[in-house]
Amino acid sequence: MNTSMKALQITGYGTMQDNLCIRNIQLPEITDDEVLIEIYAASLNPHDYKTIQGKFRKMEKLTFPAQIGGDASGVIIKKGKNVKGFKTGDEVFGIVHGSVAEYGKTIEAHIVKKPANITHFEASGFPIVGMTTIQAFEYAKIKPGDKVFIHAGSGGIGSFAIQYAKNKGAFVYTTTSTNNVDLVRRLGADVVINYKKENYMNVAKDIDIVYDTLGEQYTFDAFKIIKNGGSVVSILPSEINKEVATELGLPSFVKFIFSLRSGKIERLRRIKNVFYKFLFLKVNRTENLLEISQLAEQHKIKAVIDKVFDFEESIAAFQYLSTGRAKGKVIIKIK
Ligand SMILES: NC(=O)c1ccc[n+]([C@@H]2O[C@H](COP(=O)([O-])OP(=O)(O)OC[C@H]3O[C@@H](n4cnc5c(N)ncnc54)[C@H](OP(=O)(O)O)[C@@H]3O)[C@@H](O)[C@H]2O)c1
Repeated sequence: MNTSMKALQITGYGTMQDNLCIRNIQLPEITDDEVLIEIYAASLNPHDYKTIQGKFRKMEKLTFPAQIGGDASGVIIKKGKNVKGFKTGDEVFGIVHGSVAEYGKTIEAHIVKKPANITHFEASGFPIVGMTTIQAFEYAKIKPGDKVFIHAGSGGIGSFAIQYAKNKGAFVYTTTSTNNVDLVRRLGADVVINYKKENYMNVAKDIDIVYDTLGEQYTFDAFKIIKNGGSVVSILPSEINKEVATELGLPSFVKFIFSLRSGKIERLRRIKNVFYKFLFLKVNRTENLLEISQLAEQHKIKAVIDKVFDFEESIAAFQYLSTGRAKGKVIIKIK
């Protein structure tokens, strides 16, 4: 077996052009509880380029050089002696820190077997967007017949969320721009609002669940379209409040300071007795990965792939994703 591998590394905070490069590094050593995966495909997420841009430097301080990427699909080539659920040769997908690399290590709880009917490209597109969405709709207690509003239906998150909410029997509203109207319709959205032509707040009323994937003013406006007693789940922090401080694991004194004052979201939430949650993905949820795997195996959810880039084109792939215009997932072909 090789002792070195190629990995995409972040060398500092700033632009992707200046702070990303592919280098030869040592193959990771695994512990008794880990597996080593030969990565075939990795998908990119906005969290990755925001990390390079230094947007999370206060929460997740990096030591450079650092690896990048979280979603992966590949084949187990080595396993620790405590790993019981997998064997070498198994095709798996899930969360691998530093997944834009030829090999990566992870724990058993972060992966599941890849269904045979989907490719590594497709499987690598699922973990982060799928797990985040499942957790969001768990908090919102989605049920058949719910009117669910999903912002940005054509993005990585939105393209998964539309299909997932339809599988739960919901009636789905979504927003997108002109070029992506057909895509989100094909994914199952019942009401498609072209935000270039129409204000979604004139169309969507008395919504049971808003899945807020855009943040900022969109978070505050969610309370205008939600019904009394509905649920708003945000995946971008629009206001640092006690809830956000807790979810992001900020220090106790920060949580205490925010517990003393009622922010704008809390005031809006109370008016209609809305359940509000800011969600930061919990990666330790094997059951979420198993659900995704079953839905994909049963052809109930399809990965929406925008572009596949070669490993050597990783910087261009990140630059493309960071335009905010991706239609579904951006994938890196590693093997
Ligand atoms: N809290 C968490 O744990 C967590 C987890 C995952 C993701 N996130 C965050 O969730 C956000 C979405 O992630 P993603 O992977 O879906 O991003 P993405 O794939 O980059 O989203 C791109 C899509 O957003 C659409 N879009 C942009 N502005 C829009 C607007 N004003 N109205 C409607 N659609 C709009 C674009 O469609 P058009 O070109 O048609 O405008 C494009 O298809 C990111 O900010 C990410 O960081 C948070």
